[in-house]
Amino acid sequence: MLTLTEIAENPLYLTRRLKTHGGPDVIFRPLTHADTGHLAGFLAALSPESRRFSTFDGYDLATARELCDAIARYDKLRLVLEEAPSSRIVGLLEFSLDLTPEDIARYRDAGIHLAETTDCRFGPTLADDYQGRGVGTLVSPLITEVTRLLGRTRIILWGGVRADNPRAIRYYEKNGFQPVGRFTEADGSLSLDMMLDLRPVPEPAGLLT
Ligand SMILES: CC(C)(COP(=O)(O)OP(=O)(O)OC[C@H]1O[C@@H](n2cnc3c(N)ncnc32)[C@H](O)[C@@H]1OP(=O)(O)O)[C@@H](O)C(=O)NCCC(=O)NCCS
Repeated sequence: MLTLTEIAENPLYLTRRLKTHGGPDVIFRPLTHADTGHLAGFLAALSPESRRFSTFDGYDLATARELCDAIARYDKLRLVLEEAPSSRIVGLLEFSLDLTPEDIARYRDAGIHLAETTDCRFGPTLADDYQGRGVGTLVSPLITEVTRLLGRTRIILWGGVRADNPRAIRYYEKNGFQPVGRFTEADGSLSLDMMLDLRPVPEPAGLLT
């Protein structure tokens, strides 16, 4: 099991080079302090639609600085996708090892007991020109690998997924997430909770005899 400090001290633990279908290679790696400028460029370039689906405190240099300053200081692990050889950041993949009382209450209502020993939150954002090209799915096995290395066995969506975001819902479904329930956002819109359980499915009792 890796700690956030160990990952920050040696980002190579979680660094992988990926071949995309017909595009440049991308490097999957932890966010580092040196990324502030490129991360600001990534945030600033997100379209209004992407900002509606993936909400950040801001989309500028100050927010990029905050995210880089938070490395190994709180409960968050942020990874990026860096396009090679341009070094442009084309994706931000966020994990939180913390759960909110709201998450815990919503999942409890659906009959699921969340715990910080087993569960983490996850939220992906790709640059607009990288969406819908299979890159999210390419990265999906690495998301489960990181989750396991963090010592967690279930992933819930960070803040859920908006019901009017069919691409993200399809993306989660095809990568093994199951719908858990629906909830209403503060603005009255509808979102879905979804969860990926990485624990092995038990054999049906009849097959064991
Ligand atoms: C959500 C996100 C990470 C998914 O990654 P991705 O690389 O775009 O996803 P993929 O291309 O691997 O898969 C998308 C799937 O949705 C399908 N899809 C695309 N547009 C769709 C639409 N309008 N309706 C239904 N399905 C759609 C694709 O065909 C593909 O499914 P398929 O392989 O069965 O054909 C990425 O699109 C993204 O960053 N979106 C903006 C931010 C966001 O919504 N983040 C999630 C917040 S909860």
